[in-house]
Amino acid sequence: ARITLRQLLDHAAENGYGVPAFNINNMEQALAIMEAADATNSPVIMQASRGARAYANDIMLKYMMDAVVEIYPHIPVCVHLDHGNEAASCMTAIQAGFTSVMMDGSLKADGKTPGDWDYNVGVTRQVTDMAHYGGISVEGELGVLGSLESGMGEAEDGHGAEGVLSHDQLLTDPDEAVKFVRETKVDALAVAMGTSHGAYKFTRRPDGSVLAMNVIEEIHNKLPNTHLVMHGSSTVPQDLQDIINAYGGAIKPTWGVPIEEIQRGIKNGVRKINIDTDCRMAITGQIRKVLAEDPAEFDLRKYLKPAREAMTKLCKERFELFWTAGQASKI
Ligand code: G3H
Ligand code: 13P
Ligand code: NA
Ligand code: ZN
Repeated sequence: ARITLRQLLDHAAENGYGVPAFNINNMEQALAIMEAADATNSPVIMQASRGARAYANDIMLKYMMDAVVEIYPHIPVCVHLDHGNEAASCMTAIQAGFTSVMMDGSLKADGKTPGDWDYNVGVTRQVTDMAHYGGISVEGELGVLGSLESGMGEAEDGHGAEGVLSHDQLLTDPDEAVKFVRETKVDALAVAMGTSHGAYKFTRRPDGSVLAMNVIEEIHNKLPNTHLVMHGSSTVPQDLQDIINAYGGAIKPTWGVPIEEIQRGIKNGVRKINIDTDCRMAITGQIRKVLAEDPAEFDLRKYLKPAREAMTKLCKERFELFWTAGQASKI
């Protein structure tokens, strides 16, 4: 059945678990997530970015969501808009059947210019006012995703936002977070603590100087009843890097967010953990492998099936490691 983000994260908070939010662009990814959720009895957050909506078409996404709910009626599914960039993109997502939207006012609609306080509060509040009339949940974002190593903030496309930013500009300020939640009435708050989107998050295993999990603890202490969201939370596993590179890929040495740091977040109010890159890597590795081992193959199912299975395996692991497993039937 469908569930809103609010209902799902309230249950997660009451029971001390986190929910991975996996990005989808196509049927294979949607089915991979559902197969993992079914196998582990886990509730699901499936999210689509503006890029995914442009790629797959809103109508296709709408029927795909209806399809997974019909195939797996016992699994609660929240369908969420990832990084809405203006009120209009949130509204059209709601019309397409999403039960939850992110209004990311941390950047202006161009996806480059950091959104100032008044812009972010104003546009986010506009969305919560509209969405809450229809029982739709809203995620907001305060702080700029990006690298504390380089001081580079991050635009929505994963490339640098304008200028080099200081530590303080990149991290979410806990007192501002309190004000932001009060003024915007968001159901969930994405915070910045040093992660960035994509495969290249850290140049070595991150420590507290580049991945500031203490910020999450401080925010949780001040906002114990707010559901926190971690973006850029792929782990970028070495074995997935190795598979891609073994079959002709060119992933440069890199580190993602260690699972233990995410678990520390979940113990401190993090309820939604956004993961896209790891799924892309799991899929790409298997496609490369099949095509490298059998260059004569051209039946797409021969590479999409193992690709889908690799994503299912990854999703299962995340459901288990975030303590989501076993919860679906309790909601
Ligand atoms: O926000 C980043 C997500 O990984 C979605 O990426 O905008 O390329 O679909 P995308
Ligand atoms: P990753 O690139 O780390 O998977 O992050 C995805 C994300 O935050 C989507 O909003
Ligand atoms: Na999101
Ligand atoms: Zn994100």
